Amino acid sequence: MRTHYCAQVGTAALGEIVTVCGWVDRRRDHGGVIFLDMRDRSGIVQVVADPERFPVAGDLRSEFVLQVTGEVTQRPEESLNPKLKTGNIEIKVRELTVLNPSKTPPFAIADESEVDEKLRLKYRYLDLRRAQLRENIALRHRIVKVIRRYLEDVLDFLEIETPVLTKSTPEGARDYLVPSRVNPGEWYALPQSPQLFKQILMVAGFDRYYQIARCFRDEDLRADRQPEFTQLDMELSFVDQEQVIKLNEGLVRKIFQEVKGLDVPFEFPRLTYREAMDRYGSDKPDTRFGMELIDASQVFTGTGFKVFASVLQAGGVVKALAVLGGDERISNVRIKPGGDLFNLVAQFGAKGLAFIRVRGTVGNLQLDTIGALKDSLTDDQMAQLIEITAAKPGDLLLFGAGPCDVVNEYLGRLRLHLGAELGLIDPNQNNLLWVTDFPMFELNPEEGRLVALHHPFTAPNPADLDKLPTPEKAGSLTPQDKVKALEARALAYDLVWNGVELGGGSIRIHQREVQEKVFTAIGFTTELARQQFGFLLEAFEYGAPPHGGIAFGLDRMVMLFAQADSIREVIAFPKTQKAQDLMCDAPSTVSPRQLKELYVRSTHDLKP
Ligand code: AMO
Repeated sequence: MRTHYCAQVGTAALGEIVTVCGWVDRRRDHGGVIFLDMRDRSGIVQVVADPERFPVAGDLRSEFVLQVTGEVTQRPEESLNPKLKTGNIEIKVRELTVLNPSKTPPFAIADESEVDEKLRLKYRYLDLRRAQLRENIALRHRIVKVIRRYLEDVLDFLEIETPVLTKSTPEGARDYLVPSRVNPGEWYALPQSPQLFKQILMVAGFDRYYQIARCFRDEDLRADRQPEFTQLDMELSFVDQEQVIKLNEGLVRKIFQEVKGLDVPFEFPRLTYREAMDRYGSDKPDTRFGMELIDASQVFTGTGFKVFASVLQAGGVVKALAVLGGDERISNVRIKPGGDLFNLVAQFGAKGLAFIRVRGTVGNLQLDTIGALKDSLTDDQMAQLIEITAAKPGDLLLFGAGPCDVVNEYLGRLRLHLGAELGLIDPNQNNLLWVTDFPMFELNPEEGRLVALHHPFTAPNPADLDKLPTPEKAGSLTPQDKVKALEARALAYDLVWNGVELGGGSIRIHQREVQEKVFTAIGFTTELARQQFGFLLEAFEYGAPPHGGIAFGLDRMVMLFAQADSIREVIAFPKTQKAQDLMCDAPSTVSPRQLKELYVRSTHDLKP
């Protein structure tokens, strides 16, 4: 039906007769001549029709589907369009066929004006015709292609599919469940990741597996989370953490080269989890700007300022954020109770935000603050504060005081907020870094028990093996056992790009004794472990190689390359924040017959 895609028609085709097919992007009627912008997946080309010879041209509307045959000619000087790939030429119509008319679309495709997202999602096929989304989807394809070529052709990875109807995997979110018709009362879970299967593939000997895998997690949604998302998942045998990291640095470097034409470093900087939390208050620090958290606990030991003194006595910390130039830009109202910055930190556990305004001249700084803190500040403390914060006139020091984790969390959030507000973040910088040495466990605050931070198959750092409880302790861990176990570091690593967690992985446990210790720590009896993933444990009895891997969030990766602000912008058919597909109206109710066949009865309508 066509000889060229619209945007392929260039000066090389001057004088030729070509045929293009596509949609009417815009129509302009200039009296004796009608200009049509015709669009297909490649972009746009200008078509010129004489309404006397082609009266139908006068009836064309946006989104009509056309086939046009015509001669490629040079555009006159005054109508060259350098913004268009095809801006030097136009097609003079010789034949014009309307393949299909179109209703008036609910929003304009041609311009990039803001459209309500719900409307965009309902008419996703129209939204996908718009240039930005079309480019994002094509970019996604290019990225996946580079990944496949590199992993398969350069590194000899095998792509292997794993099941979608499976048993629940221990990733920590809620499962999506599917009832089984032929096994009454039994359910499949959709995979939260292919974790168990890829480890079993290592036992099976398929060293260097990868998969572009769809994953499902029933969790609260945000801009960078979807209930159904895609991972670039991989697993390797006979490797250590260094090798997994090196190989993935090579992969990410390749993607940057091919997609952005940019050379990122051969080695990405690394931060331990502890350092990341202490300096940035986050395990996915955005290092495109400074404003690091500064520990000021030392300065305030023995202080007369009651708030700080009681926190320090209770084993807490006092930490500062030095906001350069913040004295002029951030008013007291914003920091005091009821102010937006106060509210922001209060949401994450802050009781208040103490502040000091740095004034005076370089050689003669004065610190201005609220009465009680001011009265307690000694000259020596002032000097120390100025030294550790490198404060200058015009700066604002904000202080958090409380338990270390809580202070890190809310100052970390405040840091990001102020970094964005004060324009400290260069959007063109690409900061990639590894965060390593994650803790093996965290404490579940409600139940007071240890849970695996990554997943229960993540290997502990061999140097910390003695911090794990021995199996005799099963079911009777003392608080000291827990404190000790919380210090154990895992061989786990995350890749962070500009403050977004792009991927995460670990070296796995392949020895039974180590696995038992980890199960003991998280309170898993042998019975429970067998029930949940007995098949993996059994497989491990038949010669499991040392192995490890990683999974990247593919949607997040594409989002960052596209500089989009949500992964919904890089997924063809995404779901809303309420996990709905507005185009096909899913989820939806099903017939009583379907439910009956599945042995399922809904309790939704029952009164509690
Ligand atoms: P993890 O749970 O860290 O690890 O997931 C890996 C990466 O997947 C992305 N991701 C998501 N993207 C969009 N929407 C979501 N709801 C979502 N959840 C996670 C993130 C994350 O870094 N099996 C392990 C990997 C391994 O150990 O090999 C796993 O799934 O970018």
